[in-house]
Amino acid sequence: MKLSVIGCGYLGAVHAAAMASIGHEVVGIDVDQRKIDALSKGEAPFFEPGLTDLLDAGTKGGGLRFTSDIAEARGSRVHFIGVGTPQQKDSYAADLTYVYAAVDALVPHLTPGDVVAGKSTVPVGTAAELSTRIASTGATLVWNPEFLREGWAVKDTLEPDRLVVGVPEGEAGAAAVAVLREVYAPAIANGSPFLVTDLATAELVKVSANAFLATKISFINAMAEIAEVTGADVSKLAEAIGYDERIGRQFLKAGIGFGGGCLPKDIRAFSARAEELGRGESVAFLRQVDEINLRRRERAVQLVVDGLGGSVFEKKVTVLGAAFKPHSDDIRDSPALDVAVRLHGLGANVTVTDPAAIENARRIHPQLTYVEDRDEAIRDADALVLVTEWDEYRRQLPPEHASSLTDGRVVVDGRNGLDAAAWRAAGWAYYGMGRP
Ligand code: UGA
Repeated sequence: MKLSVIGCGYLGAVHAAAMASIGHEVVGIDVDQRKIDALSKGEAPFFEPGLTDLLDAGTKGGGLRFTSDIAEARGSRVHFIGVGTPQQKDSYAADLTYVYAAVDALVPHLTPGDVVAGKSTVPVGTAAELSTRIASTGATLVWNPEFLREGWAVKDTLEPDRLVVGVPEGEAGAAAVAVLREVYAPAIANGSPFLVTDLATAELVKVSANAFLATKISFINAMAEIAEVTGADVSKLAEAIGYDERIGRQFLKAGIGFGGGCLPKDIRAFSARAEELGRGESVAFLRQVDEINLRRRERAVQLVVDGLGGSVFEKKVTVLGAAFKPHSDDIRDSPALDVAVRLHGLGANVTVTDPAAIENARRIHPQLTYVEDRDEAIRDADALVLVTEWDEYRRQLPPEHASSLTDGRVVVDGRNGLDAAAWRAAGWAYYGMGRP
């Protein structure tokens, strides 16, 4: 099927490449010419495991091309909207400028029977508004939220744990469902559940899923705060409660908390939308989820200060990680970088290392020192702070090796990813998050 994907960021580029890999003819469209040039050459403009292979195969005759000309969307049966919805500069609400701009630009090229499938994360009610904007074209607007995780985006797109499609009532909605079933036929045949809902439910499924995940992380981080004043160990606690299937083990890793381009801004936008709807109190807890999350960054900084005897001034602190999580070069709202910046603000000589995110980090925070080579970064450090749990730091850094690089013996484990006993046995003062 001929498909267009408008917006070629983390979501759109992966979606376009994945759809081409299952046999569709796909045009990816973005206003950023540099991104289009890279993608057209089969190069991923960001780090995402497996994406380069799909782009390479797709652009070399595999039915995938990229352009900055929206007119080339004409003739596609489905137009996926995957542009960003960042947080507004002066409020918690989502900035829908790009979504409206994309849909308005698309309107002249729509033909009756086309399906416009929104994938961006939007405040509930946006799809209804967009439906009226395209009403005169005879196209149908549906909402098809995306649940991919960065670092696993290719797998999550090709083998989604569920497909959700919100459609309007009536014939047009039913016809759009049939079209999307065809688009996703391989995943459906592989057993991915396909849920059909109304527009509002589909929009809410996405934000409530992210709100739940954020709440789960802040829940365990709240327990970490209690563990810290009682001498308990939150990692053991998480393991123990996680055996209860109703609770589950995932997303109960205490540490410096969540970041990235989704969870933080999505819970804020959800609060803002709920306020607008007169239901602010229903999700008032999300404010606390946010506050708990931000407190954990400060806690990690405090542990470094304590570990270094009360001051980090002019001490060399090596920050292991910059990306908001491993297997990504994304530094949007990265707790890791936030910790680095706060330490720098306290006068520490901060050296940051990361296997993928240095370039992005340097652009936003040029005041920090960046060293690509992990061992060089660690050399002569007074303290190490693990803030992104890349295997390079978590599994592949034996404490004895770290000891050979520096006389500093302070390690703060912002992700509770290190073997505390091994580091202590090697002579290090180990500080975890919510662990004794
Ligand atoms: C998140 C959701 O997990 C996806 O389902 C969703 O599709 C995506 O947002 C989106 O809205 O596009 P992502 O932002 O890639 O995906 O990252 P996550 O894997 O959810 O991690 C978010 C943050 O939480 C990271 O900073 C991670 O380090 C942190 N985290 C995660 C914890 O601190 N503890 C945990 O137990 C799990």
